[in-house]
Amino acid sequence: MSVVSVINYKGGVGKTTLTANIGAELAARGRKVLLIDLDPQASLTFSFYRPAEFEEQQQSTILNWFRDFIAGRTEVPLHRYVLTPQEINAKVQGQVDVLASHLGLIEVDLDLAAVLGGSRFLKQHPRYVPVHRALADALNDQMFHGYDSVLIDCPPNFNMVTRTAIVASDHVVVPARPDYLSTLGIDYLRGRLTRLVEEYNSVAPQPINPELVGVIYTMVQWTATGPLNSQRTSVERTAEIEIPAFLQTVRDSKTAITEAGVSSLPVVLAPPGNTTIENLRYELQQLTSEFLARTRI
Ligand SMILES: Nc1ncnc2c1ncn2[C@@H]1O[C@H](COP(=O)(O)OP(=O)(O)OP(=O)(O)O)[C@@H](O)[C@H]1O
Ligand SMILES: [Mg+2]
Repeated sequence: MSVVSVINYKGGVGKTTLTANIGAELAARGRKVLLIDLDPQASLTFSFYRPAEFEEQQQSTILNWFRDFIAGRTEVPLHRYVLTPQEINAKVQGQVDVLASHLGLIEVDLDLAAVLGGSRFLKQHPRYVPVHRALADALNDQMFHGYDSVLIDCPPNFNMVTRTAIVASDHVVVPARPDYLSTLGIDYLRGRLTRLVEEYNSVAPQPINPELVGVIYTMVQWTATGPLNSQRTSVERTAEIEIPAFLQTVRDSKTAITEAGVSSLPVVLAPPGNTTIENLRYELQQLTSEFLARTRI
């Protein structure tokens, strides 16, 4: 089982869209995939459930589990909150399961920080390691051993919930737009990741080593001759500061995303469509192949 966090501080860079599509494509290829939505906005959850339909399942979100963890209750294991959305699973050979999110996760972040004595996450604190390992330990449960891949859609911040995702991960991928500010942001994110790993390993009995697999460039704008020049420059600048990147990029294609959205399925599973949809689908499929090759354990 390979656990991959999809993360970027920046909002709206395609984290959720990529998580849903890579997850769906892996399942279409026969794999068993668990998608974990850690963003209180719950966009990933709502890529698989219509809001009204989800209302009925309100009790089954990762919020319940985090609340139990904070209160020191352990009777309900994480796997009990796993959902199997029907619409998408009717379309794939494998399986896509979801741990749904909830707006209340915002408070969980604050409560977890409070457990560790405030926003500085003091590593001397006796609960520093168990709190950081909350998700990692929960995923160690035998009930999760049947999954081939776990993808975690992180919120656009580096708070405590995000930190539990990183500690649980073998790999980290960073969706980003190819522009100047994003490049700066990625360098900063890399620094934060390195610091978290060093800090955690200085006190934890079992070291972690989540690998920054690479940036996935999304919403790339094309002209008749290829990607916009200014975007190429940004990609080159990221390479110069030795941040790895996926070879496959994903183009900016609002129309394709919107049209596929009508069927409420990720683009990779949407019904056959025009060239715009097919181009985007092709890129997402190629990206999934590269993702598999780079995150295989
Ligand atoms: N390749 C693309 N081309 C055009 N639009 C896209 C593409 N990928 C995603 N979008 C759109 O951009 C918006 C942001 O995408 P998404 O929600 O995946 O980003 P995010 O990084 O998860 O955002 P947040 O930080 O808010 O969680 C959405 O409206 C989505 O439909
Ligand atoms: Mg998102």
